[in-house]
Amino acid sequence: MIRFEHVTKRYADGTTAVDDLSFEVSEGELVTLVGPSGCGKTTTMKMVNRLIEPTSGRILVDGEDIAEADPVSLRRRIGYVIQQVGLFPHKTVLENTSTVPHLLGWQRKKGRERAAELLDLVGLDPSVYGDRYPDQLSGGQRQRVGVARALAADPPVLLMDEPFGAVDPVVREHLQTEFLRLQSQVRKTVLFVTHDIEEAVRLGDRIAVYGSGRIEQFDTPATVLGAPATPYVADFVGADRGLKRLSVTPIEPGDLTQPPVVHLDDPLSKAAARLAADGARWAVVLDDAERLHGWIPADAADGAKGTVRDHARRMEAWLPVGAPLKQAFSTMLQHDAGWIAVLDEDRFLGVLTPARLHEALRRSIDADAGGIARGDVQLQTVADV
Ligand SMILES: Nc1ncnc2c1ncn2[C@@H]1O[C@H](COP(=O)(O)OP(=O)(O)OP(=O)(O)O)[C@@H](O)[C@H]1O
Ligand SMILES: [Mg+2]
Repeated sequence: MIRFEHVTKRYADGTTAVDDLSFEVSEGELVTLVGPSGCGKTTTMKMVNRLIEPTSGRILVDGEDIAEADPVSLRRRIGYVIQQVGLFPHKTVLENTSTVPHLLGWQRKKGRERAAELLDLVGLDPSVYGDRYPDQLSGGQRQRVGVARALAADPPVLLMDEPFGAVDPVVREHLQTEFLRLQSQVRKTVLFVTHDIEEAVRLGDRIAVYGSGRIEQFDTPATVLGAPATPYVADFVGADRGLKRLSVTPIEPGDLTQPPVVHLDDPLSKAAARLAADGARWAVVLDDAERLHGWIPADAADGAKGTVRDHARRMEAWLPVGAPLKQAFSTMLQHDAGWIAVLDEDRFLGVLTPARLHEALRRSIDADAGGIARGDVQLQTVADV
């Protein structure tokens, strides 16, 4: 969808910002460009919508050499979220969001409807925020408007230059989660610039790690973290890459263990027998429809009368299958839980324990395309953190 062929950009003062760059982003793929300040990320991005012209080489968008495209119509096909958000201060949120539809000559009503729909999509209620001005929003809300505006004309390609750079880490993580959800619905072809490796691995289907003006490695987050191609990349992703892998390794059904399961209406005596048979200290409690209700400790079931319902405790710590191991880990810490339940929609699949979490991380490292030896990988344990 976006293809760089031997692209070089040399500025008038002789600075080579991008040096013989070749890579390709597939349709519907999100590629993050990550690297230190000044390594050429913004330059790369601005060449795609011709805000900057390459010195040599060519860039194809959807098979078309963009040097031959009309820059204005090219830009309308490419949503752009810039480093400093760049909302018009004297226009309301709705007006800002419908800027591009307006430029495209859409009728005002249609443009505003589309804008309202998009504000909803990025989590801003248009009836609350639509008529506000940018300075009446928080930093995170402004960034969401920036994303909504870039999506307004439904462009197939999105360029995002540190779109979440101006907010604190908590808001940033929230925006990332929302953006991933959004991207799973709209499936744009995205080039996403960041200098934050955590953000790069979290969002990217693949990531391009930039040195100065060049790509040092272009691969999946798991491979970049598991098998850095050069010492530079290893240094850039950091000594704690074993830990960072947690955020790119999903929980799989095979990682789970099966504790004893009892049901809400079971007599406690039956539950106690079930627990004793397994020598278990607790059981998972499901309702009639096999949905997770909670758990029951062995000592609550032992010798007591009544049903499981009377003694079941609510489950706070649960996650959907496919969630990253990092989330499992932080949920365990947050709830001080020795295990967490894993669900597929409503269905209970099993539980993840710290030992299984560790095995899952091993699995993901062993599965690397690079096939690095186990002994080469330093896994940090909780005690190191
Ligand atoms: N108009 C220009 N004239 C000369 N040099 C420039 C110009 N624009 C950028 N540069 C230089 O090109 C290099 C790459 O700049 P670029 O903006 O692409 O970096 P970046 O990776 O986006 O950095 P940051 O993370 O700080 O945004 C830098 O050394 C910068 O100083
Ligand atoms: Mg930049």
